[in-house]
Amino acid sequence: MSYLSKHRQSNILTGDTFQIAREAKAAKDVYDDVIDATVGALYEDDGTFYAYKTITQIINKLPADPHFRYAPTSGGLDFKENINRWVFGPYQSMVENNFQHSVVASPGASGALYNTFLNYLDDHTPLIMPDIYWTNYLVILKSVNRSSMTYPMFDGDFFNIEGFITTCEKVLEHSDKLVCLFNDPAHNPTGYTLSIGEWERIYAYLNGVAEAGKKVVLIYDLAYIDYDGESLEDSRRLFDVLKKVYTDILIIIAYSGSKSFSLYGLRVGAAIALSKRTENIEDFNQGAIFTARATWSCPPSTGIQLVNRLFSNDMLMDKFKKELKVARTALKARATLFLGEAETVGLKTYPYHGGFFITIPTDNPEVAFDKLKDIHIYTIPVPKGVRLAISSIPLTLITGVAKRIKDVL
Ligand SMILES: Cc1ncc(COP(=O)(O)O)c(C=O)c1O
Repeated sequence: MSYLSKHRQSNILTGDTFQIAREAKAAKDVYDDVIDATVGALYEDDGTFYAYKTITQIINKLPADPHFRYAPTSGGLDFKENINRWVFGPYQSMVENNFQHSVVASPGASGALYNTFLNYLDDHTPLIMPDIYWTNYLVILKSVNRSSMTYPMFDGDFFNIEGFITTCEKVLEHSDKLVCLFNDPAHNPTGYTLSIGEWERIYAYLNGVAEAGKKVVLIYDLAYIDYDGESLEDSRRLFDVLKKVYTDILIIIAYSGSKSFSLYGLRVGAAIALSKRTENIEDFNQGAIFTARATWSCPPSTGIQLVNRLFSNDMLMDKFKKELKVARTALKARATLFLGEAETVGLKTYPYHGGFFITIPTDNPEVAFDKLKDIHIYTIPVPKGVRLAISSIPLTLITGVAKRIKDVL
């Protein structure tokens, strides 16, 4: 007999990344050949945690007051402006001139996603997303009692635009609203990044749906934006396509400071809303602030202070950007080594363009996960694959991993 409320009794977290990561850590204490490719966090090539020196320096210098006092629920004006500057980079003024916009701070991108799922999905409006995804979306959906509908993510090595449209059309048969989610660039778990042409087709379709009188919400989870492309400017190139939005659709960006600043535990993040329709932005503000007050109340002030202090000091900002570049280069070296060896031994992977993860396709993720665990390679089973977090495997340990995986699978 459970004391839990009826609707909570079936909410059990199984196969969660953090649980599997704990298993990998325990195995490391026993065996010395363990590859821990579980958690999506950056580690140095010597196996230690990847902390950005500039970020640590700012936080260490914070006096008690700004660390500990309540921060505004929205994050405050400076934070909002700074997040727009960071996320949109060279496209900031284009975006701000083309859309009404607003920012609400959240504890990580998770908070932004939770708020958005809760506030925009209805009983007859499932979340439309590809069939390969970050599994925590399902946990959030379950927690807010909403559902999802998926479509096959790939057509060969490219995004399956037809599958996306077909699924949207199915939902529109019984709903006057579309809510679709894209995790881009450097998708978790595959590392895929949509091309400009693919984004253009997505917006062309969604403009058409909005013109036909339907409501359209596009949730844009860009948690890994700072680890895609050759540079920060390059990874922002996809915002150019926002010029093609000419209807009243609502875009809600989920931004993760966990990844950008390697500050996973501090819970920095934001939801950024863009729409040409003022009412959409007013509703967003009202809804996001309400649910924030009802859950985390206000964001951790340390993260807000960090962002504001980093952005008000050009020297610190330059130093941080250089450190980010080093991290991107390290990730690229790991990906190049792994993918090169995978090709040599004939191990298939999903198309990887950037980010923390590479995923090996399989119809039976749990079996593949167990087989790899038996040879002390700890991965995460994801829909249609097993995921390797190259973000946490030192370069020297990557040699030979592709062959070991190929042999056992
Ligand atoms: C695709 C994706 N979105 C969102 C998040 C949430 O990150 P956080 O809440 O730490 O910002 C993660 C974290 O792993 C992720 O992989």
